[in-house]
Amino acid sequence: MPSNLPSTHGADAAPARAEPQFVRVAETQREPLRFFLDGCEVGALQGDTLLTAVLMQQRRVRDSEFSGAPRAGFCLIGACQDCWMRSEDGKRLRACSTLVTEGMRVVSRFGVETGNAAVSALANGDAS
Ligand code: FES
Repeated sequence: MPSNLPSTHGADAAPARAEPQFVRVAETQREPLRFFLDGCEVGALQGDTLLTAVLMQQRRVRDSEFSGAPRAGFCLIGACQDCWMRSEDGKRLRACSTLVTEGMRVVSRFGVETGNAAVSALANGDAS
């Protein structure tokens, strides 16, 4: 993980988060912020898209709701629809065209327990 983005992940962090997909090489002086990814508090920089912020933490932006396969976005410009995520309160977010904000809470994978039973059920594949 880049040294400019400290994480609070412990030794029990999911394997999907072991290495980031993206590495920041420029604009490292923007103001930092914190958000919650699958219940873990992580860092990003002001002006990052949600896609950038998530892929700075792990190799996937979500699991496919159909196959369960990892997805990381494709076009990065809002055209392919490969980067839809959910907030913990169930709102769908297109990660490549949504700016990450302080305290934002998002879910990227199955099996994540959130404070919202409906989102947890969706994340677990228990709802249509
Ligand atoms: S990465 Fe293609 S729509 Fe977001």
